[in-house]
Amino acid sequence: MTEKIDVSQLPKRYLYDGTPVPPMGIGTFGSDKYSGESIAEAVYGAIRYGYRLIDCASVYQNEDKIGQVIQRAVTEKIVTREELFITSKVWNDMHGPGKVLESCKKSLKDLQLDWIDLYFVHWPFPNYHAPGCSGDSRNPDSKPFSVEEFMNTWRQCEQLVDLGLVKHIGMSNMTIPKLEAVLPLCRIQPAALEMECHPAFQQPELFAYALSHKILPIGYCPIGSPSRPERDRTDTDIAATEISEIVEIAGKHGVHPATICLKWAVQRGVVPIPFSVKPAQYQSNLSCILEDPLTEKEMETIRGADKNCRLIKGQVFLWEGASGWQDLWDMDGTITAG
Ligand SMILES: NC(=O)c1ccc[n+]([C@@H]2O[C@H](COP(=O)([O-])OP(=O)(O)OC[C@H]3O[C@@H](n4cnc5c(N)ncnc54)[C@H](OP(=O)(O)O)[C@@H]3O)[C@@H](O)[C@H]2O)c1
Repeated sequence: MTEKIDVSQLPKRYLYDGTPVPPMGIGTFGSDKYSGESIAEAVYGAIRYGYRLIDCASVYQNEDKIGQVIQRAVTEKIVTREELFITSKVWNDMHGPGKVLESCKKSLKDLQLDWIDLYFVHWPFPNYHAPGCSGDSRNPDSKPFSVEEFMNTWRQCEQLVDLGLVKHIGMSNMTIPKLEAVLPLCRIQPAALEMECHPAFQQPELFAYALSHKILPIGYCPIGSPSRPERDRTDTDIAATEISEIVEIAGKHGVHPATICLKWAVQRGVVPIPFSVKPAQYQSNLSCILEDPLTEKEMETIRGADKNCRLIKGQVFLWEGASGWQDLWDMDGTITAG
């Protein structure tokens, strides 16, 4: 295994204003399983290896540790701040008046940064659950989506751009009906959409919608999140890495099925953000972009293997009276009201 890849060989993606974005990032959510220290050490190793996009969030409770290793990598001249593309996200309990600025300032301080490259609204609801909670936990204060409340949060994000604290803003865990409702109201358009995306849950309509609105799709759980918390598991979940077509293509290429999931994402035009604290894994995840591409036929085979199986259902964000996790995702094509 080489110590680092030639970053200049990696393809680039672009935001609507021409800002280049690395084709892959490293995730930093430890799934309640990995410590902040081990994740930060992986981020440091990943930057050394050639990763430039780091997907952070205040709710992952490790931004302070990640800030230390970013600082270390810059001080050691492994990378400049300008070469890095750092994301963060405002958590659901910080949507209220003045709260987004407070949360962003905390992330900036923890990450030891003067600016964040892309700042997301993590979920389009102010519905909060405690980190590490169980799958059946509910917050009695939870509410259904409200265009007005979401826009109050988005306006605060727009102010962060005005203040120069963040370069771009993005949305996450949105649906087409919600985007249809809010996009005409945005003074600053979302530059990116973070969405669950892997071969077992490809979201083709949302993906196409994002592209047609010049919104860059960033794919979370790109390997199907095999280490996700218990609260995000059900008996009917399908593992992307176990889909027979993926296993077969992986066999032909002589690689782990995870590698096929990532090649597919990058070739499709999604920016995947796989997580791993294991050097062999995070290194091969990035280097696979540079070798042995999937054929058009293999891409087509994977497209046809979609199981429409959402893993991160978000049921802990449900409000009283909601019928089930499907209500969070507007599955009948209109925004599900309370
Ligand atoms: N916006 C949102 O709401 C949202 C939601 C979820 C996630 N995210 C972001 O997306 C990132 C990625 O999602 P995720 O961590 O849930 O899922 P993931 O990246 O699909 O899966 C990560 C797991 O895959 C395994 N893995 C990684 N590389 C591998 C390889 N080369 N070979 C075999 N196995 C490999 C590792 O399992 P082991 O641990 O067993 O080694 C790792 O823990 C998160 O870290 C976070 O930054 C955002």
